[in-house]
Amino acid sequence: MKGKSVYICQNCGYKTYRWTGKCPECGSWGSFVEEVVVSAPKKTRAGWVKPSTSEPLPLERIGEKQAERIPTGLKEFDRVLGGGIVKGSVSLISGEPGIGKSTFLLQISDIFSQSGNVLYVTAEESPEQIALRATRLGIKSKNLFVLAENNLQEVEKQVERIKPELVVFDSIQTLYLPYIESAAGSVSQVRESAAFITNLCKGKGITAFIVGHVTKEGTIAGPKVLEHIVDAVFQFEGDRGYNFRVFRSLKNRFGSTGELAVFEMTEKGLVEVSNPSEFFLSERPTGKPGSAIFAGMEGSCPILLEVQALVTRAVFTTPQRRAKGIDSNRLSIIVAVIEKELGYPLRNFDVFVNVVGGVKVNEPAVDLPIAAAIISSYLDRPIKENLVLFGEIGLTGEVRKVRLEELRQKEAEKNGFEVLKGIKTISELPEKALV
Ligand code: TYD
Ligand code: MG
Repeated sequence: MKGKSVYICQNCGYKTYRWTGKCPECGSWGSFVEEVVVSAPKKTRAGWVKPSTSEPLPLERIGEKQAERIPTGLKEFDRVLGGGIVKGSVSLISGEPGIGKSTFLLQISDIFSQSGNVLYVTAEESPEQIALRATRLGIKSKNLFVLAENNLQEVEKQVERIKPELVVFDSIQTLYLPYIESAAGSVSQVRESAAFITNLCKGKGITAFIVGHVTKEGTIAGPKVLEHIVDAVFQFEGDRGYNFRVFRSLKNRFGSTGELAVFEMTEKGLVEVSNPSEFFLSERPTGKPGSAIFAGMEGSCPILLEVQALVTRAVFTTPQRRAKGIDSNRLSIIVAVIEKELGYPLRNFDVFVNVVGGVKVNEPAVDLPIAAAIISSYLDRPIKENLVLFGEIGLTGEVRKVRLEELRQKEAEKNGFEVLKGIKTISELPEKALV
């Protein structure tokens, strides 16, 4: 097949016919890779798939046909989805290698196979490896079929034969379409493969889960366009050093985004955690300096998390600022504000901050607990027991209100904590928050 050589940004999918160092679209450097693009057959166009008969409908009648949802029985997971898996939807499950994507999808496959055929396409592991995992999870369903195949056109044939209700594609980076000449995992392959899967499944009313690995930077390997093709994007987060995994909705055509469920990786696969706050605080040290409790919001759910800080005398002339779970720029600002407002010579100290459990916090409300933990560690005085903090810190040290304070307070009280209130600037922290 004749193809044309183009350079494609592996980050955003921007196309150019001449190699350039910097992508004009997303600004990343050195992201262009030469690919041979063959115009795809009409069938694989990305995006919403037109039903076979198209006629205009009065607006008020469109809502009548509600999306059919299939509850999995996993309470928290169903909630993140928006009330169960929407029949015929295509979802992307992303996460770092080894986080538990294959394990989880095998568990979901088992649930689905109680009511119909399920096809698990493994393009990464051998069927024996899947079988081994299934044994470990105690899965032995007759309706669960495993297919080791990388070629999507071959997968299509088997889908037609088995007529599954659910298909798992593990993973998008190892699947390919033979008529596209670039390698599996490249932008063109990933995009066209996802479009192929979407068309295949939407046309037959099949529900699909696609596994996608994320790179170290946290973006889904391959183009951003992948996210536009599918109906929903879910991400598994967590530290492999810990046993818990956070399952988050990043995009959801059938529900709200930012929702989160917590799972624990056990000997028998992933198990839902019903009270994440209690779970995340279970190993919290008491009476130790440098540990603060934060009441955060994840989607519509409040959650209590432990924020730790360690302040030690700097070894090198440039002090270190290290953050895990929060933005490191934010940390630098908080440290600078503390230095200015409280007069601590933090320029001579290394500051390390960590959100326990490998959870990533993205809201400014975490400023106050971070500041409290840093001050607590610096002064070597613990934070008052059972105190919960939240609040945004401004550049002049003022503490600002954050959204949904009531919900946060309720979650704190439910778990036997008290919220630090009435604090106007961070200079009040040593007196009001510390022992
Ligand atoms: P896996 O599902 O293979 O991750 P991914 O598909 O995201 O790459 O999960 C890998 C890890 O999970 C591996 O380190 C073993 C662990 N695990 C358990 O702890 N318990 C279990 O029951 C199973 C099946 C796996
Ligand atoms: Mg896997």
